[in-house]
Amino acid sequence: MTSDYERFPVGRGEIALGDCLTVLRSLPEGAATLAVTSPPYHNAINYEQHTQTLAGEKERWERIEIQYDEYRQFLMERFKELLRVVAPGGYNVVNIAPVSWQGRRVPLPFHFVGWMEELGWVFREDIVWEKTVARDRRSGVLLQHPYPGYYYPSLVAEYVFVFQRPGERRDRNNIYWHRSGADRAANEIDMSDYQGEKSKNVWRFRPVAPQENIHPCPYPLELVERVVEFYSYKGDLVVDMFAGSGQTNVAAERLGRRHLGIDIMREYADYAVGRVEDVIRDADSETVETEPTTARSRAATDTVPDEADSETVAREQSTRTTS
Ligand SMILES: C[S@@+](CC[C@H](N)C(=O)[O-])C[C@H]1O[C@@H](n2cnc3c(N)ncnc32)[C@H](O)[C@@H]1O
Repeated sequence: MTSDYERFPVGRGEIALGDCLTVLRSLPEGAATLAVTSPPYHNAINYEQHTQTLAGEKERWERIEIQYDEYRQFLMERFKELLRVVAPGGYNVVNIAPVSWQGRRVPLPFHFVGWMEELGWVFREDIVWEKTVARDRRSGVLLQHPYPGYYYPSLVAEYVFVFQRPGERRDRNNIYWHRSGADRAANEIDMSDYQGEKSKNVWRFRPVAPQENIHPCPYPLELVERVVEFYSYKGDLVVDMFAGSGQTNVAAERLGRRHLGIDIMREYADYAVGRVEDVIRDADSETVETEPTTARSRAATDTVPDEADSETVAREQSTRTTS
């Protein structure tokens, strides 16, 4: 452990509290099979002020000016380090979207792909996350002015880009090809509903509702579960360097992967730890229901309902100031 960040082991993984650049630098080359994340979208959310609203120290948070080039440097330094940490042939899946700022729609995802290619990441897939529920703040303009030039579509999509660290010997899937038969059998993907949505590059998920999560912009658990299942094996290490509420850790824990989530805000890191603990507790109580009553299972059934209830209440009491 270095003094620059704190580590909280939980379940099959851990949450690290600190700057992801520092944490990534402490990891060995090629440690992870898969990286999944959603970085800050330029200045769309002021996380420092948002956590102050959670603590009741501030009523609302406000966006601040951040130079775009400074932001680009911030991301590039971190995704460069990530390229070292992901094993050759491993994937880096990034959820990102354009942001609106000072009357402009900033095409962040399209710049981002170029930045990643400059670093050496190979672009593989562009998946659209279509939000099945979204607030419509724009499309009404054409209703009021039904003439050319007044079209502002409602924003219901974000991107999920898939990049890959080049494999050695041009063997781009080398970390997947050499798995044992037993490993493959234990990781076979359920194909029953594959021909519906999963086989296409438009994925439809409901966004997380404000009362379900204290973070201002979590991605859906189902989205990250799909990514984890498609790009890693049980026991592999999955890293999320901007982990927020720990959705990646939760998904990885549920799917039997090792996981490392990193976030710079203590409130989110604490919350992420609690959420992974919930997963472990839920799994334990499911086992308890099918096991004969032992001292351990009695303790679990005694403690689970109260703790689960207080967590639910805490989440319901929390408010999200924006989407
Ligand atoms: C878009 S959010 C991620 C949300 C996450 N995917 C979830 O589902 O909850 C980006 C996160 O990056 C964190 N962050 C910003 N700068 C960071 C840094 N230098 N190191 C680590 N985390 C950072 C913010 O605190 C924020 O929680």
